Amino acid sequence: GGEAHVEDYAFSFEGPFGSYDQMQLQRGLKIFTEVCASCHGLKYVPIRDLGALGYNEDQLFAYAEQFDVFDQELNDGDGDFRPARPADNFPAVTSAAAPDLSMMAKARAGFHGPYGLGINQFFKGIGGAEYIASLMAGYHEAPECAPEDFPGYYNTVFTVGGYPEECKNEEGAHTVPGSWIAMPPPLAGDDVEFDDGHSASLHHEAADVAAFLMWTAEPKMNQRKEAGFIGVFFLLILSVLLYLVNKRIWAPIK
Ligand code: HEM
Repeated sequence: GGEAHVEDYAFSFEGPFGSYDQMQLQRGLKIFTEVCASCHGLKYVPIRDLGALGYNEDQLFAYAEQFDVFDQELNDGDGDFRPARPADNFPAVTSAAAPDLSMMAKARAGFHGPYGLGINQFFKGIGGAEYIASLMAGYHEAPECAPEDFPGYYNTVFTVGGYPEECKNEEGAHTVPGSWIAMPPPLAGDDVEFDDGHSASLHHEAADVAAFLMWTAEPKMNQRKEAGFIGVFFLLILSVLLYLVNKRIWAPIK
């Protein structure tokens, strides 16, 4: 038996001082584009937002062109497909019955407990990105208890998929971690080639695509943290001023 294990990846964006690593987001985008986009949509993400990853306008137009979007205005209002522009969102992909990934990093948690207390989330973070990365690397050969024709792919991190009766004990408890997922293993390592020669091992690719999906789910994280610091800084100065004012007001009486 045992719990599904989500690895605690050390992402650059963790903690109060953490921020996105632009190069990692670019690598993640490349993996998403070349591997995941055939089945998964990113329908809530405007393509022009990729400017935050360091691309200029020409690059954004060139990138957008590879997607076809439906435009109701074309064909005298009957609508037609045309190549996407940066002002369009990434297409929604429904053909593979795969969930949209725009918000996935916030829709999943990697860390729970202990005992439902949520303390792990306090120290390690919610872990959506870690969950995605671990899911990519969580495929294993199906355990012997499973019938050979059991549908799906055995993944030790995915816990809500199909599970064969044969792998339960007398009390009905699971004897092997994870469950069977409908997604075939999308990454095997060396699925893409990075311009900067960065490693494309399965572990690195998993982390990079997960970081990219964290960015799609929370594109303003860096700005949010900065605003938080400015706020705290402002309150500190205000506290000092109020302290001095208070001293001064009460000086004649004390
Ligand atoms: C589900 C990520 C490529 C088909 C998912 C989920 C994630 C994900 C995070 C949700 C798991 C959950 O519900 O907890 C990715 C990434 C990919 C990728 C990062 C690229 C590296 C693909 C490809 C296909 C595909 C190429 C199609 C051949 C599916 C399907 C599901 C799914 C069908 C639903 C699985 C189920 O509920 O059993 N994927 N995916 N994915 N994906 Fe992918």
